[in-house]
Amino acid sequence: MRKKIRPAFFAVAAVLLFSVFLAAQEKTPRFIGTEKCKMCHKSESRGNQYEKWSFSPHSKAFTVLATEHALKVAQDAGIKGKPQEAAGCPKCHVTAYGAPASAKAEFFSQDEGVGCEACHGPVRFLNL
Ligand code: HEC
Ligand code: HEC
Ligand code: HEC
Repeated sequence: MRKKIRPAFFAVAAVLLFSVFLAAQEKTPRFIGTEKCKMCHKSESRGNQYEKWSFSPHSKAFTVLATEHALKVAQDAGIKGKPQEAAGCPKCHVTAYGAPASAKAEFFSQDEGVGCEACHGPVRFLNL
């Protein structure tokens, strides 16, 4: 009886250990920015989400904060300083604003405004 159980026990233990090893290898997905999504999401056959986005106000959500109108909106809201830098504005106008630097790729830029990942989240298979 014992002789049969032991190899089975070791086999199960080995599989468990290997899964723990694999889980530790998996990196947390990071925000990589809309320009990286573009390479696969700009063809008409797939719906060209990139172009739809780039013509939408979402792609200008950050730059719009630099306008005179934005300054007035900020002043009316009692927010001092530049709207692009004031914490009260970018939280809705920028992808992953306030997320730790470790959650974003080095090349990630807030200039993209509300990018693909603001709604879809970082994509797991793209660990750039
Ligand atoms: C290497 C190519 C590639 C890149 C880069 C890429 N995708 Fe995709 N994506 C695909 C493919 C292939 C599909 C599935 C095919 C389809 O439905 O057209 C897909 C599907 C999707 C879907 C639909 C999933 C569903 O359940 O229908 C979303 C949302 C998406 N991608 C978002 C993103 C975002 C956001 C980024 C950038 C962070 C990104 N993708 C970058 C290739 C890519
Ligand atoms: C709670 C989320 C949120 C916050 C915080 C926020 N915005 Fe917005 N903002 C939006 C949304 C959503 C839109 C697009 C809908 C619209 O145009 O009303 C928008 C649109 C705008 C526009 C373009 C439309 C227009 O009215 O001209 C400006 C400019 C703007 N916001 C400035 C600001 C400024 C300045 C701040 C900080 C004081 C700010 N926003 C904070 C969500 C937010
Ligand atoms: C403001 C939020 C928002 C942004 C920004 C956004 N999406 Fe989406 N996306 C959605 C929603 C919601 C759906 C599902 C509803 C639908 O199919 O219309 C969707 C659907 C999709 C799909 C499924 C197929 C399709 O075309 O419906 C893909 C692929 C996709 N988005 C990719 C992208 C990419 C790539 C970007 C950036 C270039 C992007 N999305 C930006 C909200 C967003």
